Amino acid sequence: LSPARATDTGAPPVVIAHRGASAYAPENTLAAVDRAAALGIDWVENDVQRTKDGELVVLHDDSLQRTTDVEEVFPGRAPWKVKDFTAAEIARLDAGSWFDPAYTGTRVPTLEQFVDRVEQNRQKLLLEIKNPQLYPGIEQETLKLLGNEGWLDRRHLEGRLVVQSFSADSVRTVHALKPAVKTGFLGTPPVADLPAYAAFTDQINPSHGSLSAGYVTAVHALDGAHGKPLEVLTWTVNDAAAARRVAGFGVDGIITNTPDVVRDAVGG
Ligand code: G3P
Ligand code: CA
Repeated sequence: LSPARATDTGAPPVVIAHRGASAYAPENTLAAVDRAAALGIDWVENDVQRTKDGELVVLHDDSLQRTTDVEEVFPGRAPWKVKDFTAAEIARLDAGSWFDPAYTGTRVPTLEQFVDRVEQNRQKLLLEIKNPQLYPGIEQETLKLLGNEGWLDRRHLEGRLVVQSFSADSVRTVHALKPAVKTGFLGTPPVADLPAYAAFTDQINPSHGSLSAGYVTAVHALDGAHGKPLEVLTWTVNDAAAARRVAGFGVDGIITNTPDVVRDAVGG
């Protein structure tokens, strides 16, 4: 996230609020972004998908069932896939009361609303393109929206935006369409395959359960798509002991539902 590796500078890993500060506010909502800001956390992660009528929205699951009241509002529409609902329909849903009644009335944000709030809060965005196989063309549409919202200017490209995905094809597509955008691949490719990933990505972002100090060292040994050492962000680390463990491996960033706990554990 910063130009130099944590291992080079001795700096603590950057802390990234996973789906916003999602232990404390409903995930992937503006409330979760604001909660991260209130905790003093700069980086926010989210998940981007597409509605039936082509709007980009922020939600983790491919179904609206778990995190909204869609079953009550649209009872006959199982399995309630995001791709089968219009943006206007999704805008009617409550995305907060499942988490806590105090958040009743919270909405599923559009990506436009989400990036605008992150910008207002002077935060930074780790944007995940979720389930890209369901949404052909979503990479181009995401980049177009980011450009329209002012997120592809130099200031954002040089330290306020990373686009990541579990799909190597999707990351490769983002890199091909807009080489200036910093990218991340979610997963733990075999060390022997890392040079191929380094051609189109700047980060390798593994689950913390699959991480070791040796793996972090192997990633750091390669230069990424922008000619700087490949970085490692790991997820989803929610307790102090696990945070200290991965910090000891030399990771560059920790993606967490409890960013205050992780920050207190690793410094920063
Ligand atoms: O950013 C890493 C993490 O979000 C990947 O897993 O399922 O929470 O999107 P998931
Ligand atoms: Ca995610």
